[in-house]
Amino acid sequence: MPARPYVLLSCATSADGYLDDASPRRLILSGPADLDRVDEVRAGCDAILVGAQTVRQDNPRLLIRDPRRSARRAARGLPAHPARVTLTATGNLDPRANFFAPGALRLVYCATPALAAARARLGEDRAVLVDAGDPLSLDLMLVDLAERGVLRLMAEGGAQLLGAFLAGGLADELQLAVAPFFLADPEAPRLSLPRPAPGSPMTLACTSRAGEVAVLRYLLGPGGPDRRFLRWAVELSRLCPPSATAFSVGAVLVGEDGELLATGFSREQEDHDHAEEVALRKLGPAPYNPRLRHATLYSSLVPCGARASRPVTCVQHIVAAGIPRVVFAWREPRLFTDGEGAEQLRAAGVAVTEVPELAGRARAVNAHLVGSGG
Ligand SMILES: NC(=O)c1ccc[n+]([C@@H]2O[C@H](COP(=O)([O-])OP(=O)(O)OC[C@H]3O[C@@H](n4cnc5c(N)ncnc54)[C@H](OP(=O)(O)O)[C@@H]3O)[C@@H](O)[C@H]2O)c1
Repeated sequence: MPARPYVLLSCATSADGYLDDASPRRLILSGPADLDRVDEVRAGCDAILVGAQTVRQDNPRLLIRDPRRSARRAARGLPAHPARVTLTATGNLDPRANFFAPGALRLVYCATPALAAARARLGEDRAVLVDAGDPLSLDLMLVDLAERGVLRLMAEGGAQLLGAFLAGGLADELQLAVAPFFLADPEAPRLSLPRPAPGSPMTLACTSRAGEVAVLRYLLGPGGPDRRFLRWAVELSRLCPPSATAFSVGAVLVGEDGELLATGFSREQEDHDHAEEVALRKLGPAPYNPRLRHATLYSSLVPCGARASRPVTCVQHIVAAGIPRVVFAWREPRLFTDGEGAEQLRAAGVAVTEVPELAGRARAVNAHLVGSGG
């Protein structure tokens, strides 16, 4: 069990960094395409967190909008909607808020002194109330969420909550949607930090557009770009369709300039797909994309050096594409094959870096195959 969930921060701002205007009405900063993107991100998370002030002010529903996404979650054995989570020092929450509507598990992390009053206000059934310490501790909350099986947490705001995660060095990723207008309202909440964040600068993983909104995807967390891209590869492995006979693996291909080239995960396109193979396929058929000759491949599991399902191993694909560097988290246990992927890569002249600190997370995704211990 990982010590804390992967924390993905998500928000939309104006071009000058505001999260809202100062009026009492909720300002929607992003357009339909971005809201749909956020819905997809939500569907890939175990829980959605918002600060108590956002619950009070915006009264969000925090549900997956597209029923096909909920159905896909259900098919994977997950609840149709992620759990809703909030945190409060005062316990001042309205029991009629949408947050407490049925349809998803509700968790309220409350500072110890306000716990009794919050229980009296909310009653027994509306939410699970959890003592989050005095003063309220984000670390305690994250440990408790992990113990409840939350592996991937999406924190959607508001300003104080996002600032606390960033300043505490507790975020793994920031997805920032920038709207094409300025608000210029000094009274409005904006994305800012109470103190400098450790580990700056962030790693810009990719940029995209959703309608008129620019979406910037930053990776954070300790260890610089290598650890950050590898953590992302491990996260991708959670998206794999489950299999009783093959590992769930995620892969990220990054160009020389740090630009994302492609991602992949096991069985993403076809039944026997390996993650590395999918990422390579997305860059077109052989002869391979020339950018691969300067790329790094990040994989949650060491690329396979022996394979039962297809004739070409991932090691052979990597060597054929001329990829000079591979970073992986987890050494393959001798479960399905005897492949010595790392040794084969090194023998072929590929620089291989193993990051054992992330092996536990990569392994946890495959607990159904290898057990949860060790
Ligand atoms: N554009 C976007 O993507 C987006 C997303 C969400 C929200 N928003 C906007 O953000 C604004 C609300 O932001 P906000 O900064 O006022 O409030 P917030 O971050 O939503 O909530 C802050 C509240 O959370 C509780 N809290 C306790 N300990 C905390 C800690 N360590 N870190 C953070 N929160 C803690 C406190 O609740 P108690 O007061 O109950 O003790 C605190 O007042 C609204 O205008 C909303 O529309 C924008």
